[in-house]
Amino acid sequence: MPSNRLEGKVAVITGAASGFGKGIATKFAQEGAKVIVADLSQEAGQQAASELNGIFIRTDVTKRSDWEAILALALKEYGQLDIVVNNAGASYSNKATEGVIEQEFDMVMNVNVKSIYFSTNILVPYFLKENRPGSFIQIASTAGIRPRGGLAWYSASKGAAITATKALASEYGPKQIRFNAVSPVVGITGMTNLFLGSTDISTFVSTVPLGRPSTPADIANACCYLASDEASFITGVNLEVDGGRCV
Ligand SMILES: NC(=O)c1ccc[n+]([C@@H]2O[C@H](COP(=O)([O-])OP(=O)(O)OC[C@H]3O[C@@H](n4cnc5c(N)ncnc54)[C@H](O)[C@@H]3O)[C@@H](O)[C@H]2O)c1
Repeated sequence: MPSNRLEGKVAVITGAASGFGKGIATKFAQEGAKVIVADLSQEAGQQAASELNGIFIRTDVTKRSDWEAILALALKEYGQLDIVVNNAGASYSNKATEGVIEQEFDMVMNVNVKSIYFSTNILVPYFLKENRPGSFIQIASTAGIRPRGGLAWYSASKGAAITATKALASEYGPKQIRFNAVSPVVGITGMTNLFLGSTDISTFVSTVPLGRPSTPADIANACCYLASDEASFITGVNLEVDGGRCV
């Protein structure tokens, strides 16, 4: 039940054209936030933004200039920025690790880790200069805490996202800039087939005590809480939204 928990806030959500990101942007808009949908996918991104009365910006999160453009757009259209969700992600298809090629390794590290570097490098100075509280949320993964075989470098990238989140929380807490991570267990999105490889989803789900995959709404509800003022004393957590998988 929406209750304007994000009223007056401006949020950028990367990868918000589909999957978890679209779910997060939808929840944020329902809770009163102005949303900026930042995604590589022009058509789906524009569609999502128009459904949410938000703004679309075509973004490649691995490019510095695209992060600069996000900040410029937020300030031009809304005059402020409050919430940054680093949700866009990439993976190669589940396979034996000796078969991962260099381009796949670079893609995973660039999209899942370097994007966080750029988001902080470009956006933290804005929060510092304006003396404005901010909330960064990284969509990590249970793979970053309880990895399985076949996705070694994807899992390592999510482990890096979680560790960076904790380090940044410690560093910028005194400036009231909060950094948290959300770690979903497998969900049914555009990336699911990459994670599964030849494995059936029921094999993954059998390790989830609550007995189902995650949904965009599960992830969005966790992000909404962490982005809201209700979580103003919460920083540096990695919130597992995983039906108990990591217990
Ligand atoms: N689906 C799962 O089972 C699962 C589990 C744990 C974590 N995650 C994480 O959730 C996040 C969202 O993924 P999803 O499952 O919703 O997949 P998805 O494929 O539905 O959505 C990913 C979105 O990111 C966008 N994107 C990809 N590369 C981009 C780039 N360089 N710049 C900008 N946008 C880019 C895509 O266009 C797409 O809209 C990812 O970080 C993923 O690693 C997913």
